[in-house]
Amino acid sequence: MHVNKAEFEISAVKLNQYPSDSIPEIALIGRSNVGKSSFINRIIQRSKLARTSSQPGKTQTINFYKINDLFRFVDVPGYGYARVSKSERQAWEKMINQYILHRENLQMVFILMDIRHEPSTLDQEMYQYIDSLDIPFAVILTKLDKIKKNQLNKHLSYFKKGLKLPTTDALFPFSSDTGEGSEDIWEVIDGYFDEE
Ligand code: GTP
Ligand code: MG
Repeated sequence: MHVNKAEFEISAVKLNQYPSDSIPEIALIGRSNVGKSSFINRIIQRSKLARTSSQPGKTQTINFYKINDLFRFVDVPGYGYARVSKSERQAWEKMINQYILHRENLQMVFILMDIRHEPSTLDQEMYQYIDSLDIPFAVILTKLDKIKKNQLNKHLSYFKKGLKLPTTDALFPFSSDTGEGSEDIWEVIDGYFDEE
């Protein structure tokens, strides 16, 4: 798919603030600082559309980005950001669950994890949660540029093992810095639209 139009639509915290549910949505979830906002910018080749930060917890609302008037990427706030209070964390979890469980036009989930580190307990829990839902998903392994090429298979095996996967087929190594991995991810997205 060629992206000829990409726009930020709205930031929402509550259901009644979401935009219309008339087009499909792909949600990006993953812990804070994993690279969700950078993913959006790279994959659609607009370097500044989604706001990124080296400070974890930058994205604190659900942000809707409309692509080609055809679908949306939905940037969901990062889970597991330790430096917030328990009540703040619970509010975040509620916001995420509300979106994932009740959004009728949610068609696919991209779970992002940092390729450098074995999946954390939170990553594993999030994976199991998404796996238990009836929504197609893929695991995007971010910051591919930060590992050596000859270490890739070793890192893929961390995720195969940590997430108890039968194969590495659902794992998509990706770098927002170099763009490596973009084509395979676009194939997943295009594949969805081909089936529709
Ligand atoms: P929250 O909004 O806090 O949930 O974080 P996020 O998941 O949106 O992360 P964001 O895209 O803001 O990126 C966090 C930091 O990681 C930034 O400093 C990015 O430049 C950096 N980063 C993201 N992706 C990559 C990547 O593929 N390679 C490298 N080297 N750095 C990356
Ligand atoms: Mg962000």
